[in-house]
Amino acid sequence: MTSTERAFPQGFLWGAATAAFQIEGAYDEDGRTASIWDTFTRVPGAIVAGDTADVACDHYHRMPEDVALMKRLNHAAYRFSVAWPRVRPDGRAVNQKGLDFYSRLVDEVLEAGMVPWLTLYHWDLPQALEDAGGWTGRDTAYRFADYAVSVYDALGDRVEAWTTLNEPWCSAFMGYTGGQHAPGRQEGVAGIVAAHHLLLGHGLVVDELRRRAAPDRTPQLGITLNPTVADPFDPARPADVDAARRLDGLHNRVFLDPLLRGRYADDLVADTEGMTFEGRPWSSYVHDGDLALISAPLDFLGVNFYHGDAPAALPYDAAPDELLGSRIEGPARPRTSPYPGGGFVFPRRGLPTTDRDWEIDPSALTRLLVRLHEEYAAPPIYITENGAMCNDVVVDGTVHDDERRRFIEQHLHATLDAIDAGVDVRGYFVWSLLDNFEWSYGYAHRFGIVHVDYETQVRTPKDSAWWYADVIARNAVPLP
Ligand code: FCB
Repeated sequence: MTSTERAFPQGFLWGAATAAFQIEGAYDEDGRTASIWDTFTRVPGAIVAGDTADVACDHYHRMPEDVALMKRLNHAAYRFSVAWPRVRPDGRAVNQKGLDFYSRLVDEVLEAGMVPWLTLYHWDLPQALEDAGGWTGRDTAYRFADYAVSVYDALGDRVEAWTTLNEPWCSAFMGYTGGQHAPGRQEGVAGIVAAHHLLLGHGLVVDELRRRAAPDRTPQLGITLNPTVADPFDPARPADVDAARRLDGLHNRVFLDPLLRGRYADDLVADTEGMTFEGRPWSSYVHDGDLALISAPLDFLGVNFYHGDAPAALPYDAAPDELLGSRIEGPARPRTSPYPGGGFVFPRRGLPTTDRDWEIDPSALTRLLVRLHEEYAAPPIYITENGAMCNDVVVDGTVHDDERRRFIEQHLHATLDAIDAGVDVRGYFVWSLLDNFEWSYGYAHRFGIVHVDYETQVRTPKDSAWWYADVIARNAVPLP
């Protein structure tokens, strides 16, 4: 280390993250059947420009090349997800060809000297299970456990780090309340019912996988959340202070409390008391014993962080351009607030924004990490996603993505600030290795440190990728 840089703790784990649906393509190969996202991409207006992920980055066929690229970029770990509809198509019997792909991937990663960091669920529920009720049905949690066990039995001898769910907030609330994500349902408090069943699925999987642990085969188990930092837009306005409390309940504590305290918060229950799903309050979907399963100890907590949030309570008279998100083209399909009961909007605070129109506030990451440590005594934390969407331009075969580089650099300093404050943060995965299918924004939104030409599938590391490779080599980030 030189005096122009700041070092990370020894053994800090560095890598990049991807998700199966966003990069694999090969949507109908080797026995894979449709997921809710395959269906959703065919709903008119659901995805900007009508993009689908049928081909995406063609990673299913280019996997060895992509792993070799990570090795070239000094990555020490690779966070990827397994596609449920490859492994148990239609949610039913195991498809060996699906497992074989991930077995080859894990071998490739290990041969490259990297750590495979596996996520079981990054949003691609088999459509057949959605047809049977999806995450608002309790049975889906048990089908998730069946699927997880089949993946564990095939890969548990080589994979140590297992993440049950990625960002269940998005699966639940954007999928079943707001409708901007698959399956596109807009059913109010159904989002919390779905959240509970996702958590139940998590608990069942943790229980099953621990049971299967052998002395030479002890999995490290965790979950990845996307907690926000909820600040009142106007701290002097009591309605905004209350909106921030409700947002914190519906975004953060709805997961953190059951996972780390074995209960749902009273104010969350009170806020949503009058709302019913299929004629019942959501709390009636919580069975005896569920919370004990959900709150079993974890080996790590994954944190995905992009931005904080400052809600302004309605009525709030905003000029059209004043609200965040207004400067990008969104999907045409109507959506609603992902927060059951809603009642707030997100006006600009005057902070800088990325091209996604998301605010840039690295200090919020520090505050979040410190809160997780102090208030929740969280297990060791890994930043499992962080990165920026930029309108990249290829110039003479390279991409000068200085804004992305700066974004990552600032968030690495914010992570170090949290470590200095006593938080046990053990790794960082940039989102994402490759430009990819960015859900309802399709291919227009590029998050990769490696550029993908979707016509030719040529991969070109951007400036940020080489800069990040150097950070990894030094285990240190330059001083600003
Ligand atoms: C997160 C998702 C990830 C990616 C980034 C930009 O919410 O987990 O798949 O879309 O946002």
